[in-house]
Amino acid sequence: MITQLPEQYEKIKVASEELKFNMASDLQTGSLLKTLVASKPAGRFLELGTGTGLATVWMLEGLDENSSLHTIENNELLIDIARKYISDSRVEFILADGYEWIENYNGEKFDLIFADAMPGKYDLFDETIALLKIGGLYIIDDMLPQPNWPLGHDKKVESLMNHIEERYDLEFTKMNWSTGIIIVSKNR
Ligand SMILES: C[S@@+](CC[C@H](N)C(=O)[O-])C[C@H]1O[C@@H](n2cnc3c(N)ncnc32)[C@H](O)[C@@H]1O
Repeated sequence: MITQLPEQYEKIKVASEELKFNMASDLQTGSLLKTLVASKPAGRFLELGTGTGLATVWMLEGLDENSSLHTIENNELLIDIARKYISDSRVEFILADGYEWIENYNGEKFDLIFADAMPGKYDLFDETIALLKIGGLYIIDDMLPQPNWPLGHDKKVESLMNHIEERYDLEFTKMNWSTGIIIVSKNR
């Protein structure tokens, strides 16, 4: 049972339901993100696919005062919900196409990336891992079969898992937790 929810969680959930946004990560993923974020003091964090901010609030729960979080979303309606309910100077909401953002980003690398959109996960995976510091963590969910997977999505999942296994510089664990999480760390 996960009973302690981030402060703004319920309000954002109601707003998400009104928009019929049903792609949010679940509570288990949120709790795991909070825990992992908290393990990196003064960390730099990246979320690809803000949605309405339901995972963002979990990540913020783990963030210390010297940390920062960039979160990228291309749907203005969705990111505006997150902006409305999350007022926190440590987070930067970026309305942008994730493909362009990943390819053009040239700032400091990140300690943890939660890749929750096509760009950064099924597309531009190597480019996204390049944005991770050595020792950094890369997290993805929805890796176990889900009722909302479109036809043929299982092939994408399989190909991504094979690709992760092929990379000599990554350690990873596939977890039967939440919707199926993979935690990847970059070791060189
Ligand atoms: C799985 S949802 C994110 C859910 C959110 N992280 C959460 O846990 O509540 C994926 C999001 O990625 C966004 N997205 C899809 N394509 C994108 C792109 N090219 N650039 C940026 N965001 C994109 C979608 O609009 C959607 O909000």
